[in-house]
Amino acid sequence: MTKAFIFDLDGVIVDTAKYHYLAWKKIASGLGIEFTHEHNELLKGVSRVRSLDIILELGKVEASQEDKDKWLIQKNEDYLSYLVDMDQNEILPGVLPVLQFLKEKNQPIALGSASKNARPILEKTGILHYFDAIVDGNDVSNAKPDPEVFLIAAKLLKTEPKDAIVFEDSVAGIQAANIGNMVSIGIGEKSILEEAQYIFKDFTQIDKSFIEQLIRK
Ligand code: BG6
Ligand code: MG
Repeated sequence: MTKAFIFDLDGVIVDTAKYHYLAWKKIASGLGIEFTHEHNELLKGVSRVRSLDIILELGKVEASQEDKDKWLIQKNEDYLSYLVDMDQNEILPGVLPVLQFLKEKNQPIALGSASKNARPILEKTGILHYFDAIVDGNDVSNAKPDPEVFLIAAKLLKTEPKDAIVFEDSVAGIQAANIGNMVSIGIGEKSILEEAQYIFKDFTQIDKSFIEQLIRK
């Protein structure tokens, strides 16, 4: 029996959510916009372009397309500067054993991320080979909470949405999985991810018997 196991990237597999936050905070500060960790939750799982719009809306700042394009480039350059030395050590605790266990159980694995930087991150951290399919920000036209990214991933893994299991750290991503009629597993705080079907603080809290139960379901 096989399911489709779909992983978000930022904040699920690697702790890059903190780098996105720092890079956006720099842009926001430059524009005199206050940008807190709470505001940052609104950006998790959201595309780069939409993230900038949310920040500008928060600060009630209107901007030309030219300025927006400039800030989008600055944000990404700053974000990428944090990734220069990235290696296996940036993989979040408990993730590798779960990927390994899924492979042992012959379960197909996909990435379902809004990021356009997903592939280089998987390469740098040495885990690209675990993924049977990669769907990222370059492949979708509708951002989470639209389920498009996960529906494409399930299709590539030749699995029905109801047999897909999604690991997500963002509210938008959990909503996308739920709307897509998939099993949603929140990785993070209960108070934030309350819409998820299951919630774990991190992957160290997920044991083999839980994964086996998901496979059998
Ligand atoms: C998501 C992150 O995975 O990817 C968002 O949660 C980010 O914070 C989005 O904005 C787009 O990423 P990138 O790397 O294409 O700017
Ligand atoms: Mg994420």
